[in-house]
Amino acid sequence: MTAVEPWLEGRSVLITGAGSGIGRETALTMARRGARVMCADLAGADTTARMVLDAGGEARAAVVDVTEEADVDALVKATVSAWGSLDCAFNNAGISPAAVGAAGQRVGDIARPAWERMLAVTLTGVWLCMKHELAAMVPAGRGAIVNTASIFGLTGQPGAGAYVAAKHGVVGLTRAAALDYAPSGIRVNVVCPGFIDTPMVAEVRERRGERINARIPLGRFGTAAEIAELVTWLCSDLASYVTGSAFTADGGFTAA
Ligand code: NAI
Repeated sequence: MTAVEPWLEGRSVLITGAGSGIGRETALTMARRGARVMCADLAGADTTARMVLDAGGEARAAVVDVTEEADVDALVKATVSAWGSLDCAFNNAGISPAAVGAAGQRVGDIARPAWERMLAVTLTGVWLCMKHELAAMVPAGRGAIVNTASIFGLTGQPGAGAYVAAKHGVVGLTRAAALDYAPSGIRVNVVCPGFIDTPMVAEVRERRGERINARIPLGRFGTAAEIAELVTWLCSDLASYVTGSAFTADGGFTAA
């Protein structure tokens, strides 16, 4: 592996949505920094774990649906039983409006099943993960959690009402959890990526990438690696005074 500072040496980390995009890249980045990584996803987590192992890191994989509490409970228990503790968690699994058939729909046009599925995966999934992760971290008196929201957890976006609502919920939930668990020595933060080049946005990029780039001050989509670096730093002791904070990494999009 490339030599880097071992910010997360020996830490056990759980990542949801680790089978693709930002989650996969974060698994690789954290492993490079010395973490032992439990990769969780509906699909693809085994491939990510294999990539980490091939690069000389330590990883395991789990098939998990973050909307199923029994899956989440088993995931946290499997991580603790593998490595003795849960030190960090990256609650990152999410779906796009297109995945629930609501892309481009105005708020009043969203079908109730689409609304409920978006909330279930993107907001309730994060809460369920935190609930079980915190139960493992509190007795240890330490831990770091990072959730994934979006720039659309901070601003509105036409045609994405359920996603916008769910991601604002993730930002609020993060702040509330940070306050609840600061006395327990646990930090909770949230990253708000802008347009990042992953499979989730491949179709959008194909269709209107140039128009989007024109609205981004840095003039391009971000890479999953650029989010992974921020998440890794937030999980490390370098961020020991950081909790309850929302971090944009968006090429200046929300500053404009
Ligand atoms: P991606 O589609 O490459 O990865 C998302 C992963 O989440 C997939 O592997 C998928 O299987 C998994 N997932 C979906 N539902 C799940 C469930 N019920 N249980 C377990 N895993 C599930 O997308 P990307 O871009 O890596 O997204 C990661 C996070 O970043 C998401 O929360 C997304 O909303 C957020 N985000 C992405 C942005 C982008 O431009 N790509 C911008 C802002 C936020």
